[in-house]
Amino acid sequence: MCGIVGYVGSQQAAPFLLQGLKKLEYRGYDSAGICELNGTLRIHKTRGRIADLESLLATEKIVGTIGIGHTRWATHGSPSDHNAHPHFDCTGNLAVVHNGIIENYQGLRQQLIAEGHCFLSETDTEVVSHLVEKHYQGDLLTAVAQAIVELKGSFAIAVLAKDSPGELVVVRQDSPLVVGLGNQENYLASDIPAILDYTRNVYILEDGEIARIKENSVDVFDMKLNLLEKTVFEVKWDPIQAEKEGYADFMLKEIHEQPKAVRDTIAGRMDEHGNLLIEREIPRNLVAGITKVQFIACGTAYHASLYGKHVLEEFLDVPIETDLASEYRYKRVKADQNTLLIVISQSGETADTLGAMRLAKAKGARVLAITNVVGSTLSREADAVMYTHAGPEIAVASTKAYTTQLACLCMIATYLKEQVSGEKEITLLQALANIPEQIESVLLAHEHRLEKYARRLLHATDAFFLGRGLDYASAMEGQLKLKEISYIHGEALAGGELKHGTLALIVAEVPVIALLTQETLIDKMVSNLKEVKARGGNILLLAQSNSGDFSDVGDEILLLPQTHCLLAPLLTVVPMQVLAYYAAKVRNCDVDKPRNLAKSVTVE
Ligand code: AGP
Repeated sequence: MCGIVGYVGSQQAAPFLLQGLKKLEYRGYDSAGICELNGTLRIHKTRGRIADLESLLATEKIVGTIGIGHTRWATHGSPSDHNAHPHFDCTGNLAVVHNGIIENYQGLRQQLIAEGHCFLSETDTEVVSHLVEKHYQGDLLTAVAQAIVELKGSFAIAVLAKDSPGELVVVRQDSPLVVGLGNQENYLASDIPAILDYTRNVYILEDGEIARIKENSVDVFDMKLNLLEKTVFEVKWDPIQAEKEGYADFMLKEIHEQPKAVRDTIAGRMDEHGNLLIEREIPRNLVAGITKVQFIACGTAYHASLYGKHVLEEFLDVPIETDLASEYRYKRVKADQNTLLIVISQSGETADTLGAMRLAKAKGARVLAITNVVGSTLSREADAVMYTHAGPEIAVASTKAYTTQLACLCMIATYLKEQVSGEKEITLLQALANIPEQIESVLLAHEHRLEKYARRLLHATDAFFLGRGLDYASAMEGQLKLKEISYIHGEALAGGELKHGTLALIVAEVPVIALLTQETLIDKMVSNLKEVKARGGNILLLAQSNSGDFSDVGDEILLLPQTHCLLAPLLTVVPMQVLAYYAAKVRNCDVDKPRNLAKSVTVE
């Protein structure tokens, strides 16, 4: 996700801005820029790394003692010099940096253009520059407060004005911002690592707070500009802990980021009534007349494709296939111009996935990509892209990418159903809107219990994940999480297959994680679990809160919030991620960088 820094003081701003941006590099970015105020506002920005920005600055005299800086993780508008932040208004009197997603930027952009504003980028951010300009009557704080009233979505914003020297106005709404308190100088950053070398005393801004930062003062207001009392937070973390925002590992941080990641992925793609708004991303002509849908992906993304296949089979009559990309590319490709190929890849750079996609494309297939990286190879070669807005995923084990892929697949499946049959799935989409807070409640309710349960896996060699239907697809993801970070052999089993062989492996105390969320399959699945219990298997059961009493088959039962059966996988995966994480911790494994694995497999 993007990184923001700012400085107001008696020293030159540039050294802090560059140093602060470097501390935020771990968050992932594709471009960087700064703006300094020294009589005039001067913006220096470039696609690429901070080193490229430093090269750009080497020939400049950056003497301003107030400035803002930004590292961009592209969400709207590809990575480029002109899409990099900061962004001017029309007059060059205002400069803005932003982190987050302005959901209603398209309408605002059209309205502002109609009012005579000229846009230089494709970003959602630039609407903020022109909105503040529209409201600016000489007082920056008031103008910003009036402008943000028109914004919908998540935003951390910092604004500089040429004729309001000596002050920086910032806003926090769903995207983090901290203000570092110095001596004759004050700092701004998206999160704490960027300022730790300068101060450990910070104001942590809350949602809906606006701060006016000057050399010798920091005033914090609510949206109505009522002055607020803020408590100074003294940071006790070391720099590495700070990058993980206090979490022990990136994976645990990213598991906990899932509510926000799913919320950001849904944002702007559905209105409050459950009507889809994704035609901009998936044009009607891309899906008109399709006679077949094929999914290709690898690893966790492949497990997401199993979800996509299942949901699409509920909604469409055409054949729906899914293949491991590494298999697809070495067999006869049966795709044509009426095939919709849905390619899923967090990184958008996986060699097998790209190779398979190119083969299908050569046969005329229409390619829809689901990826987390704007400007990735996959995003550039696909005919259409639906981005997961999960933010950078640092840990090798994929977590928030998976849940946001499922959210995208749910929206795509309902969109295709609407296009083909005209029928809407309003109830499903309204239930999807509740998933972020339900993920939050699953973590709150069960993390501690799972940490304790994981201790039983200290010496485990095998663990089985059981499910039927969508629960079997979810079980595939659960076993991979456990395997890839704790090195315990995990295996997913279709409940009905147990008696065809695998039951021979179920012996006393072998851990079995069973998923029981698909209403029409509960009775069959309970029978399978009784087979397991009869052989001494120990069952951790994940079930929906009101689907029955399973105390005769579950040794440990985790009840999950009630949701649409097609959305249960977005909830069942969370306890399996958490269990895998704590099993790896108890076995002293390197959770974020497991042995032999890479985050993006760009080789075959
Ligand atoms: C899953 O936790 C692993 N990181 C791995 O299986 C990954 O899902 C796979 O390599 C595909 O990566 P992609 O989504 O970037 O294409």
